[in-house]
Amino acid sequence: MTLWASLTESIFHYTGLSPAAFFTILAIMFVTYKIVCGMFVAAGDYVEVKRANEYVVREPVQIGDVTEEDLKAYDGKDPNKPLLMAIKGQIYDVSRSRMFYGPGGPYALFAGRDASRALALMSFDPKDLTGNIDGLSDAELEVLQDWEYKFREKYVQVGQLVSHQTTSEASE
Ligand code: HEM
Repeated sequence: MTLWASLTESIFHYTGLSPAAFFTILAIMFVTYKIVCGMFVAAGDYVEVKRANEYVVREPVQIGDVTEEDLKAYDGKDPNKPLLMAIKGQIYDVSRSRMFYGPGGPYALFAGRDASRALALMSFDPKDLTGNIDGLSDAELEVLQDWEYKFREKYVQVGQLVSHQTTSEASE
């Protein structure tokens, strides 16, 4: 008797199943096992991803005068850098509100920028993502002022935009 014939006979003898049914059930059990294992592996990955995204809360560090171009590096994409945002040329460390301004957050578009115009106009339009507040109405400037008060109260100011300083100095 060949090995295969004795195997199929034993399967029938011990399980009462045809070889086809036996191997089908075996395959289903294997796939089910893989799926269940996959679920646990995914859960493990999830924990790892979560850990990787946990940020250490650091004391805000003064960065002094920076250009708008330099500020872009602080948009939260690099977890080793603080998350910064500017209003009227004053830069604030908003790292503690990473869920707002960090990547994927509802206000991530403001991070690493002077978002004065967007805040004054309550706008998410990319063209308003600028510190240029020329032509705003008194009411809009007042909205911006309220944002500035809120930021001053909540966050530490860590620097200022050089271009902004130059502009205000030029207008003095
Ligand atoms: C459907 C409209 C909106 C809703 C429901 C909404 C809701 C919220 C909520 C619940 C918070 C958290 C407040 C807190 O816990 O301190 C928040 C924060 C904020 N919102 Fe909105 N918002 C809306 C529109 C806007 C718009 C249009 C802007 C500006 C363009 C804006 C800018 C901000 C900013 C900058 C913060 C964070 C302030 C901080 O750092 O504490 N929001 N918003």
